[in-house]
Amino acid sequence: MSVRTILVTCALPYANGSIHLGHMVEHIQADIWVRFQKMRGQHITFVCADDAHGTAIMLAAEKLGISSEEQIERVKAEHIADFAGFGIEFDNYHSTHSSENKALSELIYARLKANGHINERSIVQAFDPEKNIFLADRYIKGTCPKCKTPDQYGDNCEACGATYAPMELINPVSMYSGATPIAKESKHLFFALPSFSEFLREWTRAGHLAPEVANKLAEWIDGGLQEWDISRDAPYFGFEIPGEPGKYFYVWLDAPIGYMASHQHYCQQNNLDFNSYWKSDSSAELYHFIGKDIINFHGLFWPAMLHSADFRTPTQVFCHGFLTVDGKKMSKSRGTFINARTYLDHLNPEYLSYYFASKLTNGIEDIDLNLEDFVSRVNADLVNKVVNIASRCANFIHKFNDGVLNSTPIDATLWARVQNASGPIADLYEAREYGKAMREIMALADAANEYIAANAPWTLAKQEGQEQQVIAICSLGINLFAALMTYLKPVLPELASQVEEFLGITLQWKEPPRYLNGQRINPFKALLQRIETDKINSMVEASKTPEPIAASTTASLVDDKSWLNKDPIAAQIDYKDFAKIDLRVAKIIHAEAVTGADKLLRLVLSLGSEERQVFAGIKSAYAPEDLIGKHTVMVANLAARKMKFGMSEGMVLAAGPGGKDLFILEPHSGAEPGMKVM
Ligand code: MSP
Ligand code: ZN
Repeated sequence: MSVRTILVTCALPYANGSIHLGHMVEHIQADIWVRFQKMRGQHITFVCADDAHGTAIMLAAEKLGISSEEQIERVKAEHIADFAGFGIEFDNYHSTHSSENKALSELIYARLKANGHINERSIVQAFDPEKNIFLADRYIKGTCPKCKTPDQYGDNCEACGATYAPMELINPVSMYSGATPIAKESKHLFFALPSFSEFLREWTRAGHLAPEVANKLAEWIDGGLQEWDISRDAPYFGFEIPGEPGKYFYVWLDAPIGYMASHQHYCQQNNLDFNSYWKSDSSAELYHFIGKDIINFHGLFWPAMLHSADFRTPTQVFCHGFLTVDGKKMSKSRGTFINARTYLDHLNPEYLSYYFASKLTNGIEDIDLNLEDFVSRVNADLVNKVVNIASRCANFIHKFNDGVLNSTPIDATLWARVQNASGPIADLYEAREYGKAMREIMALADAANEYIAANAPWTLAKQEGQEQQVIAICSLGINLFAALMTYLKPVLPELASQVEEFLGITLQWKEPPRYLNGQRINPFKALLQRIETDKINSMVEASKTPEPIAASTTASLVDDKSWLNKDPIAAQIDYKDFAKIDLRVAKIIHAEAVTGADKLLRLVLSLGSEERQVFAGIKSAYAPEDLIGKHTVMVANLAARKMKFGMSEGMVLAAGPGGKDLFILEPHSGAEPGMKVM
């Protein structure tokens, strides 16, 4: 069989947030597939990148008081470290904000334009006259024109379900500035998607998509495709459109082109032929792993753009479902919105790879991380079943045969069963039916354990003249273990590498595993720890972010966005309630950044008689060293709260709109720490 040339991508994570376990479903799914193909001898390249453009990223940077470029650099470094922590083996991790992507986006745009697939027309949109920025629907809030519920987003009402244009809201406000948006006209550029209706109708049914995904896309195609708005007006973080000053490519135009850009960068670094992968008649295979929320971009816009620009289209778009935790959407307050880094701080990444693998299919149904099931599944399957085989057999081989395995399987039927499972298990990996593959492998592990239990080498070992029998039973046990670990290697590369050290061989899978005739093995060392439930609990605790507190006391709370949302003033309190708040002058005796937190500083405050640790979201406005020695005002009798990074024992008061303009309240210098403020 000839070697296949394959290029694989994962969807490009946005550069304004951390990698979480939802993203990891996709990256683990793709990484397993890539590692499997590599073991089978295919020539496979795996690339990804950060999706760096758009308004959300620009504003996230602005809020932190840094440039967009600095923001995307920071986030990219964090993303790369997180993926590396999970052992995701990219050949290249790039950014859509790259020279390659700029050139390719311009090239593709020029071709679309030359082919008559770019149209211009003016549209009217909501505009924030204070910030001078056009407003996407979700950045406008107001009262529903239908049911009059206040505080609804610009596209639909959560209370009555009505949909409307943002300017139809009663008293609309811009969430950036609180200003009343005005209607403003500007010229936009559109990609002529309707011209591709027939092409897409065929393409979506030509084996590039699962039928359920094609069905979903057919709803759009049959409903009549709309022209796609590919331009955005300044200010926008992205690539300016050639010949259109002040207009930028919409983030979703250059994002998929980022797949090509990352691959091109890799090809340039490694002297490979980029064009042979991307020319319209390429024989290389191209696969995109994506989530079900972005199928229209990958199943409609992207193939149409590639087709118009005379590039090849994807061989297949592999679409997966969404991650839920304990049956529910991930939630910050429940602690089930778990960042990749938080997971890595507590648990072995391969536990998660195995658990996801055991649940993954090639369909788009959601997958649930049930934390209790996670613990029992990993312990039962990996520790008690698979690793157990080796731990029961290895010592006898050392005791009776100096660590050397025998030369033929004593139970040829059992060995043949495990060996012959190679093809069917490989087919399941190829088809991304990992759950079925894991069940198949665990059924074989059960058979291996049953065989060992039935033949009880530990009993035979105590009897005279049974040494050869014990060696034969345990040699078969070790060989079964080696075969099963070969089948598991795409999922558990780190465990497999420890097993390789133990066996003194490399686990290969170009052919069915062969019997390790006369192989000398190393002494058995514990390979995998059981998951302890308290590790799970502390991970969940560390993921809990308290619900934001409304700014209802004397000063606005730092990092609370409710001023943007125009929260109504809370119910009145009387003086007695107000007097309960014990405001004290505190001296900042120590301040430092908190690793892993973008906004927080850890402060140690002296109240004269005692010291308090407080986490304050004021990093955008203050460097730690500028705060040390200063006085501030703190709420001294606020109950301590457990935060992700430790206990916060009080709160400092601050005011200002946020970002750099955030002022901690500083009493005059004569104030003594501990002094009551009112
Ligand atoms: N930037 C776009 C993709 C551009 S691709 C040219 C984007 N980014 S994302 O960060 O929101 O999502 C990246 C991938 O992670 C997507 O495939 C998305 O479906 C997937 N997931 C994000 N949250 C997820 C879950 N909770 N569960 C499973 N996958 C999820 O979309
Ligand atoms: Zn309504």
